[in-house]
Amino acid sequence: ADPDPLQDFCVADRNATISVNGFPCKPISQVTSEDFFFSGLMKEGNTSNVFGSTVTLGNVLEFPGVNTLGISMNRVDFAPGGINPPHSHPRATESGVVIQGKLLVGFVTTNNVYYSKVLSAGQMFVIPRGLVHFQRNVGEGKAFTLAAFNSHLPGAVVAPTTLFASTPSIPNEVLTQTFQVKDEVINSIKSKFGA
Ligand code: GLV
Ligand code: MN
Repeated sequence: ADPDPLQDFCVADRNATISVNGFPCKPISQVTSEDFFFSGLMKEGNTSNVFGSTVTLGNVLEFPGVNTLGISMNRVDFAPGGINPPHSHPRATESGVVIQGKLLVGFVTTNNVYYSKVLSAGQMFVIPRGLVHFQRNVGEGKAFTLAAFNSHLPGAVVAPTTLFASTPSIPNEVLTQTFQVKDEVINSIKSKFGA
């Protein structure tokens, strides 16, 4: 989904003081092999949180070598029963492969149709750009997946935190009217996300 690159590479210069749509390129004289390799997805993420899952990012902010190349990758770890809650990526289609465990992967279309499947290690999924999706560990043990994106910075709109843990927070009257529940339900949900 990103624009085509205009050169072989443009390793992001994270110290640049100018701001553009993307990141400026580090001078070629300073580019080394290290810029094109990334070890950040080797480690299992800490899943001790309300969702029992964690996303380890491998986008342009962590891996400057992917700047302008229109790709990036995440690792998602799950405790038993853990969920990567419903979210969407405004700038990318996602394709993933389950590396370990058993995941229920589902998404909902703009016509409100739900598609899902339980996947085991080695099986792949695809989430069309912008659609709300989730993964849930439905196996006995831990699980993890690697997810690739056709953007160097896919972005993530995470439904629960977007709605219930924004800064400042969305007024309760908006959420009670939206979900047709009482104030205390909204307060209870907000409190779970530290809002
Ligand atoms: C998984 O859905 C991810 O966005 O990393
Ligand atoms: Mn995703």
